[in-house]
Amino acid sequence: MEQENKKIVLSGIRSTGNLHLGNYFGALSKFVRMQDDYDCRYFVADLHALTTTPDPNILHENVKNILAEYLAAGLDPEKNTIYVQSDIPEISEMYLLMNMHVGIGELMRTASFKDKARKALGITSDGDEIEKEIIGNQTNQRVNAGLLTYPTLMAVDILIHHADFVPVGKDQEQHLELTRRFARRFNAFYKTDYFGEPVNFNFGGSAVKVPGLDGSGKMGKSEGNCIYLIDDEKSLRKKVMRAVTDEGPKEPNSEMSEPVKNIFSLLELVSTPDTVEHFRNAYADCSIRYGDLKKQLAEDILKITLPIRERILDIRSNEEYLSKVVRQGAERTREYAAQTLRDVREIMGIRKF
Ligand code: TRP
Repeated sequence: MEQENKKIVLSGIRSTGNLHLGNYFGALSKFVRMQDDYDCRYFVADLHALTTTPDPNILHENVKNILAEYLAAGLDPEKNTIYVQSDIPEISEMYLLMNMHVGIGELMRTASFKDKARKALGITSDGDEIEKEIIGNQTNQRVNAGLLTYPTLMAVDILIHHADFVPVGKDQEQHLELTRRFARRFNAFYKTDYFGEPVNFNFGGSAVKVPGLDGSGKMGKSEGNCIYLIDDEKSLRKKVMRAVTDEGPKEPNSEMSEPVKNIFSLLELVSTPDTVEHFRNAYADCSIRYGDLKKQLAEDILKITLPIRERILDIRSNEEYLSKVVRQGAERTREYAAQTLRDVREIMGIRKF
């Protein structure tokens, strides 16, 4: 592998279930497109998955699923370094060190933290009283500290590789902003220029937001509005046909409602420009039939996901292959990580007797 002079790319996905179209278009398809031109390191974020305390019996199964899905989507373990986060103890140690330079206030203001904290406490309003709720909460519901320090761990994932680019979806941009802030702060405190400032990568476009099928928000595992890469043909069609729409346009050229806009956003991701244009025109002149639109959408999604599904099933059954891939990935990653950790300990003044 000729990696000299190549820019370093690092990204990962939490192993909390199967990968869906949001992961695919937000992250995975970018991973695949970058693998020839960059020194890419992709991992399964199983320590991050622990922040939502999954059943120990499914944690490892989920790791294997994501790995199979990475490979099935086209990541080549000969071109990329593919590893599992928990195989790299250096990450956990550097996370402890980095936490000394991270403020609990800034962590509590992070959007993803507020969302998850609200969920943990069963708060449905989206007011900004979350800090008081957390401190005042006397019930046995708890917001775990791992959730709070999620951005520290993610920053370490990235900085331990000195990554230049971090291909992620729009929902991760705030975490990336924090990573840059922590890097700058570390440099300033120790009067060094040790860490660079990693940026997202979108092939010249902007970060994609993949909407869900339920008419609002993004596609997300916890939202129940997902299309998974592993979905079989029948259930996929059924899900798409059930997607939320509205009563249809009443006047020519009317504004689209949120749910219909979402369907069109999905169509733009999977269909040809001609197809999108056809349905846009049909919407504009009120001749559109949402049934036809959804049928087309399902068809074009299947063209992408079905071949991937076949490969997932195939690779997932080959445990020996999976373990070979991650052992090789861990070996390489630990070399990079150990070097960074040595430097960081040195910079921070930790000395051996
Ligand atoms: N937070 C990311 C997500 O939920 C996963 C992640 C963890 C990650 N560490 C990372 C992504 C480092 C990119 C780089 O999808």
